[in-house]
Amino acid sequence: MEFFQVVAKRYSHKTAFDSEKKVAEEDLIKIVEAGMAAPSAGNSQSPEFIIINDESVIEELRKISDNVPLNTAPAFIAVLTRPRAREVLDIATECLIADLSASTVQMLLAATALGYCCGWVDGPFVPGDAQAKICEILSVPSDRMVLLVIPVGYPAEAGPRREKKPFEQRASWNQYEVEREAQE
Ligand SMILES: Cc1cc2nc3c(=O)[nH]c(=O)nc-3n(C[C@H](O)[C@H](O)[C@H](O)COP(=O)(O)O)c2cc1C
Repeated sequence: MEFFQVVAKRYSHKTAFDSEKKVAEEDLIKIVEAGMAAPSAGNSQSPEFIIINDESVIEELRKISDNVPLNTAPAFIAVLTRPRAREVLDIATECLIADLSASTVQMLLAATALGYCCGWVDGPFVPGDAQAKICEILSVPSDRMVLLVIPVGYPAEAGPRREKKPFEQRASWNQYEVEREAQE
C-alpha cells in the first residue's frame, strides 16, 4: 500500500475485533521493527515492546478491563517505558514520552499497511492496580512500565472513522494564522 494511503487508512479501531482471525507472527515482528525504526531523543531507543499472542496471557489481560478491543483482539503489542515518564515532566521525561509516541505511530502505520486494524489503548493502564496487574502478567521489572497496548487484528465489523479538522484549522504557512474554532 502506498504510504499516503496507509496514513489515510489508519484509524483507532475501538469496536470488536474478530478474535478467530489470528495475526501472523512475522507480521507482528514487522510491526515491532517499524516501532524500533522510529526516531528517539539522542537515539536512546528507549521504548521496549512485548508481543502478546499467547492465549493464556491474553486471557489474563482480558481480566484487567472491559475495554472492547482488549477483550477481542487476537494479538497485542505492549509498549514499555521507564516509570519516571509519569512522575515528573522534565525534558528527559518529555523525550521518553515522545520516543514512545514515535514508535507507536510507526507501528500503527505498519499494522495498517499490512491490512490490520489497530488502536492505541492506555486508559486501562494508568498507574495503580491495573498497571501493577499488567506488569505482573507480563513479568515487567520494577524499572519499567507499560504505557500503552496496541491491539492488532481484523475487525469483527467496520469501526467508525473520526473526522479530522480542515487543514486551515490546524496549520498555516510561515506565520501563525490557524483558523481557530469559535469556542477556543
Ligand atoms: C495519547 C493517546 C492516548 C489514547 N488513549 C486511548 C485509550 O486509552 N483508549 C482508546 O480507545 N483510544 C485511545 N487513543 C486513541 C484516540 O482516541 C484516537 O486516536 C482519536 O480519537 C482519533 O481517532 P483516530 O485514531 O481514529 O484518528 C489514544 C490516542 C492517543 C494519541
